[in-house]
Amino acid sequence: MKRIATTALVAAGLAFSAHAVLADGHGKALEKAVKARQALMQVYAFNLSGLGAMAKGEAKYDAKLATALAGSLNNAAQASIGAMWPQGSDSTAMPGKTRALLKAWSTYPEVQTKQDALLSATANLVKVAGNGLDGLQAAVGAVGKSCGGCHKPFRAPKN
Ligand code: HEC
Repeated sequence: MKRIATTALVAAGLAFSAHAVLADGHGKALEKAVKARQALMQVYAFNLSGLGAMAKGEAKYDAKLATALAGSLNNAAQASIGAMWPQGSDSTAMPGKTRALLKAWSTYPEVQTKQDALLSATANLVKVAGNGLDGLQAAVGAVGKSCGGCHKPFRAPKN
């Protein structure tokens, strides 16, 4: 099973770079990958919270800002998640350092379909964010659902 998962990850470019590992030591390379994906998540959250504030009426709707935040979120979602998810960087292997569940690897490519859902939701958001509050609200809601769609199966609850 582990072997199958590894093969699938390699085929999809989801394996970590051998160079990084040799230069850096295995543990450090894994920690860097974890930090990178957590940082990417923070970028998602930053952009989404600005849009969410407008959608909820906590901030004034601003078409230009909404378009910019949506574009930035969509760009971030296009960063390849592959190298940031090396085998062995799950919460079973690295307890206390990551909340990514081993299940993300053992059920691969399920996690990629969740990433694809985020990508299409943010692409739609880019299209409608500048066209008025109603469209923004619906599209922001759909993006939020796509975040949750991956967190629910693949992220461990906070300790
Ligand atoms: C493909 C799956 C997936 C998608 C899509 C996804 N997340 Fe995550 N997210 C995770 C996983 C897994 C973790 C735990 C990462 C870790 O600790 O290594 C995480 C962690 C986070 C964190 C905590 C980061 C930290 O500093 O520890 C935030 C914030 C977050 N996600 C926000 C979002 C937002 C907002 C979206 C949608 C715009 C989103 N995520 C979409 C899987 C996903």
